[in-house]
Amino acid sequence: MCGIVGYIGRNEAVPVLLDGLRRLEYRGYDSAGIATLGNGRIDVRKKTGRIANLAELIAQSPIAGHAGISHTRWATHGGISDENAHPHSDRSGRLFLCHNGVIENYASLREQLVREGHEFQGQTDTEVLTHLVGKHYDEAGGAPGSARLVTALREALRHVVGTYGIILMHADAPDVIVGARRGSPLVIGIGKGENFFASDVSAVVAHTQQAVYLKDFDIAVLGADDFEITSLLGGASGYEVTKVEFSADDVSKGDFPHYMLKEIFEQPETIRDATRGRLSHEEATAKLGGLGMTPEELRNIDRIILTGCGTAAHAAMCGEYIIEALAHIPVEVEFASEFRYRQLPLPKNTLVFCISQSGETADTLAALRESRRKGLRTLGICNNVASTIARESDGGCYMHAGPEIGVAATKSFTSQVTILTLIALLLGRMRHLSTTEGMRIIGEIEALPDKVRRILEQTDHIRRIAEKYAKSQAMMFLGRQFNYPVAMEGALKMKEISYIHASGHPSAELKHGIIALITPELPTVVIAPEDSVFEKNLSNIEEVRARKGPIIAIGTEGHEEALRRVADDLITIPACPDYLSPILTSIPLQLLAYHTAVALGCDVDKPRNLAKSVTVE
Ligand code: M6R
Repeated sequence: MCGIVGYIGRNEAVPVLLDGLRRLEYRGYDSAGIATLGNGRIDVRKKTGRIANLAELIAQSPIAGHAGISHTRWATHGGISDENAHPHSDRSGRLFLCHNGVIENYASLREQLVREGHEFQGQTDTEVLTHLVGKHYDEAGGAPGSARLVTALREALRHVVGTYGIILMHADAPDVIVGARRGSPLVIGIGKGENFFASDVSAVVAHTQQAVYLKDFDIAVLGADDFEITSLLGGASGYEVTKVEFSADDVSKGDFPHYMLKEIFEQPETIRDATRGRLSHEEATAKLGGLGMTPEELRNIDRIILTGCGTAAHAAMCGEYIIEALAHIPVEVEFASEFRYRQLPLPKNTLVFCISQSGETADTLAALRESRRKGLRTLGICNNVASTIARESDGGCYMHAGPEIGVAATKSFTSQVTILTLIALLLGRMRHLSTTEGMRIIGEIEALPDKVRRILEQTDHIRRIAEKYAKSQAMMFLGRQFNYPVAMEGALKMKEISYIHASGHPSAELKHGIIALITPELPTVVIAPEDSVFEKNLSNIEEVRARKGPIIAIGTEGHEEALRRVADDLITIPACPDYLSPILTSIPLQLLAYHTAVALGCDVDKPRNLAKSVTVE
């Protein structure tokens, strides 16, 4: 949700910043802007739309300097316009600031500033914050320069309610750029003779793999050769230099036309990586040391809450079925955005898992903090190492899926479900599952990557189906049991990248109202693998067929006959146990959404109105 990149060093800032912004464009793409500091003054260029528009503007009207700050915006406060694009300036025109987050009390701050004579160009909360820092800079005593800028920033942030990852610079302090965070991510990239700020380390990994993830209330001052981190709460702030585990190549599309397709095709490896080193053949169980819990503590759990948003919430729903089936522990799934507003009974031996690819989703983070406040052990299932959720949870399990850049979550879903299966296996083996059953489950988990490869081989077949139905106004997705959440996920994928209205339901709910929608114009995707509810699904398909609704069925290889008779189109998955089927059935649905979006000419990796990580409530 908004991307920030800052640079100070020996090189020209603009190419570094434009490259960084392109890598962060998944975080927001309503407008973009760059300010550079050179020859004692700051120049700024901003433009609505994509980074390409900004790059074109700068090509026509160049700016230069060895320090700069930049931003790609996902609009929250204030419409999408050049005035509302960041960086914003204070009234002196010598201080510029970029922000990711929300200043909740911006309206009252703005009123106060207007009373004091400040004039605003646009409507954003960020412009208010910039004026506030500028006001305190003007009022602070002492010589112009970096010390005075930091004093002003500290004073301004004391009056702010809300979240921020910010970077700023002042023409009076040409040797530094300054950053601060509270609630929105900000990382320092440490280079040789150059340093960087970024919302996400992928923006700077082409330049350095040494990073410092800032904590809430940190204020960092970067020079070309050094940096200093203090705390808004007072004194120096400790930090750790982390080696980034991926390279710039990992965040490129390679030979794929879109990140989403690349990430779909990475799934044989990412599923394997989610299990690597975590399966014990000797003990016929999963080994999850990162949970940081003793066998006794794990045995004492009598209730689990799984929480997350969007795709992560759908993975949680799959986890509910899987954990209940393999470990016989009651599981409740709660949208993270609802969690903290509920009066949820939370008995002592409840374990909470916060599931988030980015590890920065504001609602999921709030759910984590709420459950910790209530004294519950809270674990993270995150992809982004060193993300806020990963750091603030009591323990957890990394997904190790590599960067996911496509806004539509794909490989993160299958990784999350795989990890939830490992958790179910571990807890089940501590309860009733036998060694033989444990070994059988391990064998099935290890067979997944090859099965996924076989599904991916059908991409052209799925593309033809997608092209056949791409002009539909709406689509329905049905599934039962383990595949009910997959129906929801399939519908979400279709909506978010192709803009076709889609909804996912438990198949049997059809007759309770939804069947009214069935017409020859409404394709229904039915996830009907060979499982304990196959015959029931078949009856639901007949009900759709009787009303002339076109059917796309997802079935199991070797058991296609019944489905061929009733479905207009069929996609198959290799046979697998019921509890693993979501990992396989979700993949044709990702491809179906992808090829539909491509057929419709949609911007697959950057769907309208969306951003990859939602760091506002
Ligand atoms: O980073 P997170 O897993 O916490 O993100 C949660 C959702 O915002 C995310 O899954 C979203 O629903 C995806 N765009 C869906 O494809």
